[in-house]
Parts: sequence; C-alpha cells; structure tokens
Amino acid sequence: MKFFIDTANLAEIQEAQDFGILDGVTTNPSLMAKEGISGKNNVLRHYKAICNIVDGDVSAEVIATDFEGMIREGEELADLDEKIVVKIPMIKDGIKAIRYFSEKGIKTNCTLIFSAGQALLAAKAGATYVSPFIGRLDDIGFDGIDLIEQIRTIFDNYGFETEILAASVRNPMHIIKCAEVGSDVMTGPLSAILALLKHPLTDNGLKQFLADHAKVNG
Ligand code: G3P
Repeated sequence: MKFFIDTANLAEIQEAQDFGILDGVTTNPSLMAKEGISGKNNVLRHYKAICNIVDGDVSAEVIATDFEGMIREGEELADLDEKIVVKIPMIKDGIKAIRYFSEKGIKTNCTLIFSAGQALLAAKAGATYVSPFIGRLDDIGFDGIDLIEQIRTIFDNYGFETEILAASVRNPMHIIKCAEVGSDVMTGPLSAILALLKHPLTDNGLKQFLADHAKVNG
C-alpha cells in the first residue's frame, strides 16, 4: 500500500520524505488555508514547493465547481509539475472534467467520495484515484473501512485501474485496516504514520538489549 501524507505543511512533508516511506502528498483547500496560503500565485508556488520535496504524486484541488472553471484551473495546476494530480470534487461537472483530463493523459483524484456508486462513476470516467473519506464516515456512525472493501470488490470485479486512495485517515488502526482490505493508497497525517512505529515491547526490548550490552562492555 502506498503512503501519502495529507497536509500542505512543508516541514511535515520534508520529515515524511526523509523518513523514507513517502509515496505522495494530498492537499485540499482547508489544508492550504491552515498553512495561511492565499492568492493564486502563492498557492501555485506552494504546490511547486511541495513537488520539489516529494518523489511521487501531489494532489492539488480545483476551487471551481463548473466544468470550464475546473478545466482552466486543472490545466494550470497540471502545467506546474508532472507530479501534480488534479483533485476534483464528486459532482456532475467534476465527472465530466475527469473524463476530459483522462483523455488528455492528466492524472485526477476524485475527492469527497462517500458511497460505492460515486466511486464507480469516477472510475468509469477514468479517474486515476478515488478518495473515500473514511474518518468522516466513522464520525457519523458508518464504517469507513466497509466502503473501502465494497469499492475494492467492485473495482476488482471489472478490472478498473483506478486506485483506491483512502482519505480522512486519522489513526494507525485506520492505516492497518486499509492495508487489510486492500486499499491501494492511504493518505493521513504524519502523526498516524509515526504511531505505527510504537510498541511497548519494542521499547522494553531495546532498553533490555542496551542494558545487557552495557553490563559486559561498560
Ligand atoms: O484527505 C481528506 C482529508 O483531508 C479530510 O480529512 O480529517 O478533515 O476528515 P478530515
């Protein structure tokens, strides 16, 4: 499973890249706002800075919600760097835009997926990735992982090449469950990725090894 980091914070992206397990980055307008990035030129510069750090796909989201606007913004984003994946919301014009970009060989990520039917539509339009938001489904009493499993079955039934990119991942168990049910990618915060490192028996075991070594080596 590929590991993407879901942030627009350059220091965190650099830390994840240096950690050696990073396959890509996802952003959205809320994450860009969190970093205080505003104004078209600053936004484009920030995406370029992310591309300069990471070896892999970088999802950059359009703000427009009409077909022509999404095409205009998406083409501008795609021109920035070959790592850019144009992130498009799951709406009717979004599906048309995904078809347009797919025919031009520009990668897309269909975002705000909350049902298998939405994922199927995006895959039929030729999306490179679909992003089911598992944490937000959990928040309202549904099981986000069930949705990943359902989409996995549908994509496998028909050989869709669209990758399942589990988004709104919040914790290490989300990551493990995504891997169990065969998500192609997960995107989450650095804290959830680093939490995978932790086990008390590892900490205790290492402490003991070092103490035993010190006993005979001084
Ligand atoms: O990738 C989508 C993600 O940014 C949404 O996460 O935690 O706001 O539901 P969250």
